[in-house]
Amino acid sequence: MDGMAAELWRRTEPMLQSDFLMRQHFPEWLGDVSGKHILDACCGEGYVARMLAARGATVKAFDHNPRMIELAQSVTEPSGIEYKVASMKDFDKIYQHEAFDVVVWSGMPPFFDEKGLYRSIEQLANLLSADGKLLVTNLHTDAYFKRAKSNWVILTSELDSKLDTQQGSLDFYTPDKRLAFSGPTYFHTPLQIKKAISAANLEIREEHAPLASQEDIKHFPRMWVDEVRIPFYYAVIGVKSQKHEN
Ligand SMILES: C[S@@+](CC[C@H](N)C(=O)[O-])C[C@H]1O[C@@H](n2cnc3c(N)ncnc32)[C@H](O)[C@@H]1O
Repeated sequence: MDGMAAELWRRTEPMLQSDFLMRQHFPEWLGDVSGKHILDACCGEGYVARMLAARGATVKAFDHNPRMIELAQSVTEPSGIEYKVASMKDFDKIYQHEAFDVVVWSGMPPFFDEKGLYRSIEQLANLLSADGKLLVTNLHTDAYFKRAKSNWVILTSELDSKLDTQQGSLDFYTPDKRLAFSGPTYFHTPLQIKKAISAANLEIREEHAPLASQEDIKHFPRMWVDEVRIPFYYAVIGVKSQKHEN
């Protein structure tokens, strides 16, 4: 994808703001993943895939950027993650005979317009097992309307706080101020994400808008200004419930 500085996403430990405020919570939100069959959709360089595989899950993961998959495959531990170069346009053909206990779509809504968001979530939901979970995470509305004083995310366009989905653009920096992403982005409210999950016949089971913990603040202290009080990420878990089975 244009605008993504692949090398800057590579990491073996928490590094990006979203690692502290979002990805580190996945094990707590997903519960025991040992023995679970998990798909990490749009996996980037595999940070989340590795986190879940290290906890005993069987993980498959794909990304459309071959450079990201190359970076992911260059990390050999934990072993056994099956990576593929695939896009949201064709992944469902690749995995059509599988049923995943958990599908993770982390940080991806900004890359899709409203129609693409609904379509993607429906495709992902179709790959879930009978009571499978879909975890979707996104920038929280506060991230663009309240604006972080540490400037890890800088909006480069004006937004309308009344719209559920709109296009804008942003720059996203690593804590050491390197530009990790720059470009057009879709801003979806939490309500819009929930509507897309419900439209895919999943039951909304959990919602989270985590704040920085004291432990987080010890890491990269220069990164935290007002971020300790403002939710910058939103996560929701939808579950395929039995009543939607027939
Ligand atoms: C913000 S990163 C998130 C990576 C990972 N999900 C995580 O949470 O660390 C976005 C990733 O999505 C991939 N991507 C963007 N559009 C995609 C698409 N249509 N199909 C597959 N991958 C896509 C990019 O190549 C990039 O690796």
